[in-house]
Amino acid sequence: MIRDIVIYPDKHLKEISKPVERFDEALHTLLDDMYDTMINRNGVGLAAIQIAVPQRVLIINVPVDTDPEDPREQQPKENTLEVINPVILEAEGKTRYQEGCLSVPGFFEEVDRFKKIKVEYQDRHGERHILEDDDFLAIALQHEMDHLDGKVFVEKLSILKRKKFEKEWKKRQKKTL
Ligand code: CO
Repeated sequence: MIRDIVIYPDKHLKEISKPVERFDEALHTLLDDMYDTMINRNGVGLAAIQIAVPQRVLIINVPVDTDPEDPREQQPKENTLEVINPVILEAEGKTRYQEGCLSVPGFFEEVDRFKKIKVEYQDRHGERHILEDDDFLAIALQHEMDHLDGKVFVEKLSILKRKKFEKEWKKRQKKTL
């Protein structure tokens, strides 16, 4: 089921999400709904708080460029990385990448991230896994993990860029209201 995505500066986006304790049917429904919602908006990642659920749950699905016409074929459900209660074990190096966010639609800007990270997390059944990456997945994980701590990528911009963004964003929101 597609759910509504909260849009910046919605107060939910500042919330600190709570650890998942039950790996039950409700969690599986949440994960399935997050996939439907992310695909519907052509996203590559989504944190539960973006649909107003304050739990430490995120998903990432890096597109495979087979059929650019159909997002469900580009990002098949079985390719979805479901990450619950993630913890960064190691982080090193630096990289910059132009990021976007389904809660800040239409805005893209470069932010600093660690180049390589090692993360421990649980899957939908509560099984523990360790994942290491130094490519796009590492960036996406850092972006989504920030959401679990109430942070949005625009808060990582320089003061000048941030001011410019806030001004443009207010203007744009007035137009859409
Ligand atoms: Co985001």
